[in-house]
Order: sequence, then structure tokens, then C-alpha cells
Amino acid sequence: MVRTENIGPRIVLVTGATGAIGRAIARQIAAVPGYEVVLACRNEEKARQAVREISQATGNQQVRYELVDVSRQASISKLVGRWQGPLHVLVNNAAISPRSRQETPEGIEMQFATNVLGYFWLIQAFSEILRQSAPARVVNVASYYAGDLDLRDLEFKRRRYHNGTAYRQSKQANRMLTVAWAERLQPYGILVNACHPGDVNSALSNSLGFGGSQSPDEGARTPVWLATDPIGQQRTGKYFADRREVRCHFGEDRVGVEALYQACLRYSNEA
Ligand SMILES: NC(=O)c1ccc[n+]([C@@H]2O[C@H](COP(=O)([O-])OP(=O)(O)OC[C@H]3O[C@@H](n4cnc5c(N)ncnc54)[C@H](OP(=O)(O)O)[C@@H]3O)[C@@H](O)[C@H]2O)c1
Repeated sequence: MVRTENIGPRIVLVTGATGAIGRAIARQIAAVPGYEVVLACRNEEKARQAVREISQATGNQQVRYELVDVSRQASISKLVGRWQGPLHVLVNNAAISPRSRQETPEGIEMQFATNVLGYFWLIQAFSEILRQSAPARVVNVASYYAGDLDLRDLEFKRRRYHNGTAYRQSKQANRMLTVAWAERLQPYGILVNACHPGDVNSALSNSLGFGGSQSPDEGARTPVWLATDPIGQQRTGKYFADRREVRCHFGEDRVGVEALYQACLRYSNEA
């Protein structure tokens, strides 16, 4: 049975839901009546714990996990292949920032594969299901800490790898690709927006040399708002912080946005 927003629960997939902000996003959404939440995780033990904790805290029994490695397109394809029923909201949140340059088994620089291609492949692979489930949304958790994108060196083969630079590049890319996907998916009733969550102490922020002044729940607030605010809010292709739209000059670079989209397509088996 195909369920829609009006006649059944809204199904939400949150990646990186064992991490600081992702777990808070998943918990806050699970607390909203009418939402079922699927935690997309790479570590099964952590995934089980997160499901238990979120179900207990919210009383929502419609919380489950799926295993996926978002840095590998084949793993994402398998997840989509076994997906049953609708998906109304995809929250792309999983990210890393290893201090030394690493590669996936496919030979792609790990931070680019996880933070950029992971988001891209998930949107691409779920786009048909999102379309069938529309009205639907994609929320890309990005950052204000963004910049240094080099389209000729997305994988740090020419530049010396520095994890902060690679991270800033990946978050700029999240914001630019939000615009590219928003334009492509708007005709099908799918809204795509990006946001800065908040400054939260986490494995990721620690590897970048930061602590964090906000709680995970504070960091989750803007992504959750984008995921669950009434469907009348029709903004798409925009960037938000503190639940307010913020002008994003990265997204205004039309040539760069399209070039980056095409570059990501070349990493995709579905191109
Ligand atoms: N923390 C901040 O201050 C801050 C500020 C701005 C933006 N952000 C953004 O917020 C998001 C969440 O960050 P966070 O601080 O909550 O980080 P975190 O606590 O380190 O969580 C990262 C999550 O991503 C998962 N993950 C990493 N690689 C994966 C892979 N290949 N496949 C599947 N899952 C994977 C991790 O899984 P494991 O649990 O198995 O490691 C973890 O659940 C990121 O997009 C980040 O860029 C964070």
C-alpha cells in the first residue's frame, strides 16, 4: 500500500544516526506524532542501542535501523533495493573528517566519498521512491564552516591533504549540490534544503580540533524543523541556520554548481 502524508505515517531516513547530531535528529523526529524513523548506520551494535534509546525516550515503537556504508555506492544501492514502501524524508547527515588521507576500497578519497558522494548517491538512488512518496523532502546537513572547493582536485591528489580543508570543501559541496538537486526534483514535489546544525561536541568536531558550545538537541533543531515543519513551507534549494534562511553565495555560483553535479555524476554507476 502506498501511504501519503495525509493518510499514513511519514517515513524518515536519517544517516549517521549513531552520532551526536544524527541521534538527536532521529529522536526529535520520532517524538513528533505520525513519524516513523529509520536509522541508517554502519555499526550494528551502535544502531541497536540507538533504536532502543530512541524508542524508550519517545514511546515511538516505529523506529528501526538499516545498515549502510554511505561511502560506498554499492552499499547504498543494496539499501534502496531492499527498501519497502514509501520514503518521505531523507536526512543526509553522516560525515567524517579523518586526519590522514584515506581511500575507500574503490579508491575514492574517504571524506569526499562519505560527505559528498554519500549525500549525492543517496538522493540519486532514493529519488524514484521519494517521487512516488511526494510530497517529500531531502535535508542536507551542511555547515557554515565551508569553502576551499577545488573542482580540479576534489580528492586531494594535487593538494596536500588537510582534514579541515577537505571538510570545508565537502560542506561547500553539500550546499552547492542542494541547489542542483532542488532544481531537478522540484517538479516531482520533492524539496531539497541544506542547513548548518549547530556547534556540537562530537567525534567529527573533535577530529577537526573543535569542541562545541551547543547540545546535540540544539544542533538537531534546524534539520528537524526542515524535515517536519508543515508542508506549506515550500522553500527549496535554500540554506538555513537557526531555522532561518541565510543567503548562500556557494549556491549562487551557477557554473560551479552544474560542474560539481556533473563531476559527481561521473562517480556514479547510474550516470
Ligand atoms: N558537530 C558540529 O559542531 C557540526 C557543525 C556543523 C556541521 N556539522 C555536521 O553535522 C553532521 C553530523 O555531525 P556530528 O558532529 O554529529 O558527527 P559524529 O557525532 O561524528 O557523527 C557522524 C555519524 O556519521 C556516521 N558515519 C560516518 N561515516 C559513515 C559511513 N561511511 N557510513 C555510514 N555512517 C557513517 C557515524 O557512524 P559511527 O557512529 O559508526 O562512527 C556517525 O553516526 C555532519 O554532516 C557534520 O558535517 C556538525
